[in-house]
This record gives sequence, C-alpha cells and structure tokens, in this order.
Amino acid sequence: MSTLPSIARVKQLKGKRVLVRAELNVPLTHGKVSDPYRIIQTIPTITFLKRAGAKVIVIAHIGRDPQGTLKPVARYMNRKTAIGFVPELFGPRVDKIIADMKNGSAVLLENLRGTQEEEHNDAVFAKRLASYADIYVDDAFGAAHRAHASIVGIPKYLPAYAGISFADEYANLSKVLDPRHPFAFILGGAKFETKMPLLKKYVDIADAIYVGGALGNTLLKAQGYEVGRSVAEDVRGAKALAEHSRIHLPYDVLVEKRDKTTTVRLVGEIMASDCIIDIGPETAAYWAEELQSAKEILMNGPMGFYERGYSDGTNVLLRGIAKSPARSTIGGGDTVALARSLHMEKRFTFVSTAGGAMLDFLANDTLPGVDAIVKNERR
Ligand code: ADP
Ligand code: 3PG
Ligand code: MG
Repeated sequence: MSTLPSIARVKQLKGKRVLVRAELNVPLTHGKVSDPYRIIQTIPTITFLKRAGAKVIVIAHIGRDPQGTLKPVARYMNRKTAIGFVPELFGPRVDKIIADMKNGSAVLLENLRGTQEEEHNDAVFAKRLASYADIYVDDAFGAAHRAHASIVGIPKYLPAYAGISFADEYANLSKVLDPRHPFAFILGGAKFETKMPLLKKYVDIADAIYVGGALGNTLLKAQGYEVGRSVAEDVRGAKALAEHSRIHLPYDVLVEKRDKTTTVRLVGEIMASDCIIDIGPETAAYWAEELQSAKEILMNGPMGFYERGYSDGTNVLLRGIAKSPARSTIGGGDTVALARSLHMEKRFTFVSTAGGAMLDFLANDTLPGVDAIVKNERR
C-alpha cells in the first residue's frame, strides 16, 4: 500500500490558506440534516487546521440536484466549530471574504455541483478554486471514486494532502483489501450506475452476495419477475448477475399495494400495481442466519425505503452482522444514517463514511482521489 501524506504531519500552517474538500453529502429531511455522521467525521480536520492558525476554506457537494444548497449543513457544522457560510462559489463577495479571513477561521462555500463543471472536471473551474488557497486537503473519502474537479483537478495546481478522516478511512479499508473467507457481501440502495459494475467484480471476491433494495429489484426484474411499480432499471448484464450462483436475491418482499397498504409477497406473486419497499421477513431472517458463518462481512446500501420507515429488513441484517463473529464493515451515507438511527453504529469493526467509494476502493485497490494525493507533484 502506498503511504498517504497526511495534513496532520504538516508543520507551519499558520497563515496558510487551506482548501479542504469535505464529504458533506448527508441525508436531509425537510431541509434539515437528518444524520450528521459525515459532518462529524470531518470536524477533526477542520479544527486541526484552525488550531494550527490556517485559513480554512471548505468545499463540498450535496446530493445531485444543482439547486441543492449546503446551508443546512453549514448551520449544523457551526454548532461543532465556528464556520461561516458563503452561498456562492465564485464572485467578488467570495474573493473579499477569503481576502479578509483571519488566521484560525473557516468558511464553507456553496455546493460544488451547482453547475456541470465539477462533474466534468473542468480545468478552468479547478484552477479558479485552487487560486483560493496555498494547500489542498482531501477529506472526502466518500467521493474519492469520482474523477471530479474538486477531487482530481485541484491537486494539479496545489500541494495535496489527505485529511484526518480520509487517512483513517484509507487505513481501515486497506485492512479489508485482503478479505477473510467466507466473505459475505450485502448490497442494497439505489445507485445503479455506481454499484452494478462493482457487483460484477465482487462476484470474484466474495463467497456470497446478498442483494436487496432497488438494486435487488433490478436483478429480480432481469430474471423475469414482475416488479410492478418498484424502482428498478434495465441494466445490461443484469440477467447474468441475477443468475450467478454466488448472488442471492430476496424470495419474499414487502410491497406497497395500489391502495397504499402494505403486504408481504413471494417474489413470484408480485402484482403489476405493487411497489417493493423492503426485503421480506423470511429473506431477512434467512440471510441474517447465513451471516453467522462468515468471517468477513461488508454491507452497503439499505434493503428498503428507510426514509419512509421501511427499515425492518436492513435492521434484521445489521443485527445479524453485529451478532456474527466476523470482521464487519458497513458504509454509505444512507446505510450509516440508518444504523445510527437504530443506535447500532458501535457494533461493527469499522463504519465508513463512504458508500460507492468504499466498494470501488475494495474492488480496485485504489481510487482517483487516492491517486491524486499519492502522485501529487506540487507537494
Ligand atoms: P448508501 O448512501 O448507503 O450508499 P444509496 O445512496 O445507494 O445507499 O441508496 C440509498 C437509497 O436507496 C435510499 O434513499 C433508499 O430509500 C433507497 N432504496 C432502498 N431500497 C429501495 C427500494 N426498494 N425502492 C426504492 N428505493 C430504495
Ligand atoms: C456518496 O454519497 O456516495 C458520495 O458523496 C458521492 O455521491 P455521488 O454518488 O452523487 O457522486
Ligand atoms: Mg446514499
């Protein structure tokens, strides 16, 4: 493994302008932070820099809607450590605020994804952001699988270091690069375009793969099951995955019927008017039992629409993981939010702030964001 140069070892930061790329993509409910885990994990980097006398400029994204604002995140953060919010990324107001910053102060700029430039890794955009600072710190391990401007573009222009949370994620997840066997992998959630290609890789890494959530719906659909109004996509190669001997799909599911009431159905009995909202109780109990013989467990993605209260399937699996003697890693903004709402986050070997990035790192041994720091030529 490459060693990551950590900002915690850098001296003489007094008066330096430090641009921190943070992972603040937290779940919001009615415009409020519903789980602050990712925010809490990045606070040590910010307070370390403030105490060292740096001027801390934090950048981050929230969700995928260009209209999304980090304002509720700033409000929450400010309760943990003083930080100003600037509702813009560029402009004379931002320039003045940065020019007037005092040593040991911090500001958070607005959502990086307000335009397409972040995701397109636009060079001008990256250079403009880099011009705000003397040093770049990446503390967003959860977004390190994205070759976006704030992850791989900015370090072309600035000396780059890993933040405290980033280095901690890297150290802990590196231990899982060589998994113990039997290795059980539980995958749920909804990020098809990220997770489906990784699923193909995990077929060669894991001994058993349990797929629920909207991803499970996609595989059930590929197998020819009626999935009604469920969230599912047509993905190339999904049929082969669905039929792979190591991949396990739910055999009962909780559905919401046309009249909005819920019922459990066997997967062969789903109606065109149904919407799958969780894995079924039989499936959850069986999978949780199977986990007891695993030596390594990795979980990412909820099994159901947990925001609307359908968290029983995930809950049963989380309890199964906690009970099993296996080394356990769970990750993902939504997965961790749910585990924390059930007060279970202390019962796993490691709780990662990363979802897709965690899976990608374990499947590929590195990430664009890791390479950008390791291979940084400005340092
Ligand atoms: P994580 O943040 O843990 O990596 P994802 O972002 O991939 O997870 O997925 C979380 C989302 O998946 C949640 O919004 C949840 O409601 C959704 N989800 C899970 N199961 C279903 C389902 N059966 N139908 C629709 N959405 C689902
Ligand atoms: C995550 O929540 O997994 C990261 O913040 C990346 O978000 P994205 O999948 O929208 O790029
Ligand atoms: Mg998520």
